[in-house]
Amino acid sequence: MYKIGIVTMSDKGSRGEREDASGATIREMVAGLGTVEQYRVIPDDPEIIKATLIEYADQHKLDLVLTTGGTGLGPRDNTPDATLAVVDRLVPGLAEAMRAESLKKTPKAMLSRAVSGTRGQTLIINLPGSVKGVRECLEVVLPVLPHGLEILT
Ligand code: MTE
Repeated sequence: MYKIGIVTMSDKGSRGEREDASGATIREMVAGLGTVEQYRVIPDDPEIIKATLIEYADQHKLDLVLTTGGTGLGPRDNTPDATLAVVDRLVPGLAEAMRAESLKKTPKAMLSRAVSGTRGQTLIINLPGSVKGVRECLEVVLPVLPHGLEILT
């Protein structure tokens, strides 16, 4: 069983003004893969995002960190940029596969800037913010994660 972290990027959610249905969806979907050891709803602030991802990887030594939200084109969509700043290596295939499958469902998938990469022995994967986006993207990569995490750790 792998150690998993979930980070929801949402200005409103971090102020308690919005329920985090996407984080809950991730939690349900990864139940067979490991235990969720860290979960946080944070604002779309690049410094807070970077600090949280670094803490999850370096301090808590999580195997997998799934983020939701902040991957689009909005001025407060900072998740991919913050993720790129903290990973050592990109894993482009994960983001490519999610976008490719998602495009079969909605052309809006083109608007996702989501990235995936590793920091030390932690795999970080960006997912979209909506429950639908989380479901459609996570189901694409979930089957390969046991093998990917086995190699990484
Ligand atoms: N991918 C899938 N599979 N399904 C979706 O509904 N929504 C898209 C895209 N990716 C979507 C998706 C939309 S509308 C946007 S704007 C981008 O993800 C970024 O979403 P985010 O800013 O909530 O992260």
